[in-house]
Order: sequence, then structure tokens, then C-alpha cells
Amino acid sequence: MHAVTEAVLHRHSTRAFEPRPVDFDLLRELIDVARYSPSSGNLQPWKVVALTGHALQLLKDEVADTLRRSPRGEGMGYPIYPENLTAEYQARRAQCAEDLYATLGVTRGDREGRGRQFARNFRFFDAPVGIILAVDKSMGSGQWADLGMFLQTLMLLARERGLATCAQACWTLVHQTVERHLELPEELMVFCGIALGYPDTAHPINTLRTERASLDEIAEFRGFNI
Ligand SMILES: Cc1cc2nc3c(=O)[nH]c(=O)nc-3n(C[C@H](O)[C@H](O)[C@H](O)COP(=O)(O)O)c2cc1C
Repeated sequence: MHAVTEAVLHRHSTRAFEPRPVDFDLLRELIDVARYSPSSGNLQPWKVVALTGHALQLLKDEVADTLRRSPRGEGMGYPIYPENLTAEYQARRAQCAEDLYATLGVTRGDREGRGRQFARNFRFFDAPVGIILAVDKSMGSGQWADLGMFLQTLMLLARERGLATCAQACWTLVHQTVERHLELPEELMVFCGIALGYPDTAHPINTLRTERASLDEIAEFRGFNI
């Protein structure tokens, strides 16, 4: 299989990791290569803070303190979803959550079980590396699309090296704590976290394989000889 195709088809959000550390030179290389992601006007509107070991633990500890005081977080720095998702999108979102919790045997009514899994987000799912991807507050939707370019490039590069990732928008729920703790310059805000490490392939949560809409649903081909 072609290398990029392989990486695209076999990257899956990974929510349980081996404790094995990630080599610093390798991590640095991944982020270094991801710099070549395209962006409108070559603005490159991304800032990355990668944490491991003690530095990672300190962030997680401070976020845990915040969540003890305010279990629902600090309010979102930006809306992860639009306020009124239409039925089609709402159904996809619900299915994704349903399938995720099913891997753990957590039922729809089990709010505590769902809460426990959701809370693991704020430990980067115990990945050895936690990354915060930030953006300048002045940037608009065009640059947020560019951020997605960077994010996917980094995740595919990780996959190519046998590493696994999970993008985590939920970090915006504790954005004030993260921004303060990391001493981000005033003009920057948290876009998302990325858990990164070697996948725990034995963990049931990593068996999740999400559905996709069919090619016919998302694409039209016009003017081809078909
Ligand atoms: C920008 C972004 C933010 C996400 N935020 C979270 C998150 O906060 N927690 C989580 O468990 N998964 C999160 N995900 C993972 C999605 O649920 C996942 O990508 C989607 O269900 C498709 O599954 P796949 O990544 O395994 O193909 C996020 C993905 C993206 C791209």
C-alpha cells in the first residue's frame, strides 16, 4: 500500500497508550516535518507546546485542580460544535459516542461511566506525550482550517513511525488553566490537545473503528467519462 494511503487508513484515534516513552529526537522530527503543512498565504498559524514527564504531570495536576473546583470546566474558548447541529450531523456525533462507550461496555444511561472516560481526556489518556496546539486569537476560520492541516499532517507522520494519537478539542474546556500554566502569550489561545505515544493494542477502547459517509454522499464527479 502507498505510504500516505496506509497512514490515512490506519490512523485511528487512540485512547490508551503503553507507558513506553517517545524518543525526543523522533518527536522533534515529527513536528519539524509537520511545519511543511500548507496554509493560506503561508501564514502557518500554529504554535505547538509538547510536554512529557514532569512538565506534563504538572499541567495535568493543575487541570485536575481546576476540574475538582469546577467539574464542568471553565467554559469553551471557542464552540467545538455549532449550537444547533442538524439531524444528520447530530446523528453522526451520537453514533461516535455510542460506539466509543460500547467498546468499554458503558451503556447509554451510565452517566458515571461516560464521565469517567471523558475525564481521561484531561490526562491525555495517560499518553507519554501531551501536545497543546494553539492559535493566535486574531485568526479567522480560514486559519482554523490551516490548523486542521497541521494537525492531520502531524497525526499521519506519527502513524508512519508506529506512534498513535488522539486529537482532543476538549482541552478548550480548561483553556484558561492551560493558557496560564503554559504562560502562553496573551494573543494565543488553545485549539486542541493531542495525546501521542505507542498504542496499547490490548485495550478495548482502541478497537473503535468509526464509520464514514460513503463516497457518493460526500462527492460528486462531473464531466468525467463515467
Ligand atoms: C479537532 C478534533 C478534536 C477532537 N476532540 C476529541 C476529544 O476531545 N476527545 C476524544 O476522545 N476524541 C476527540 N477527537 C477524535 C474524534 O472523535 C475522531 O477523530 C472521530 O470520531 C473519528 O475517529 P478516528 O479518528 O478514529 O478516525 C477529535 C478529533 C478531531 C479531529
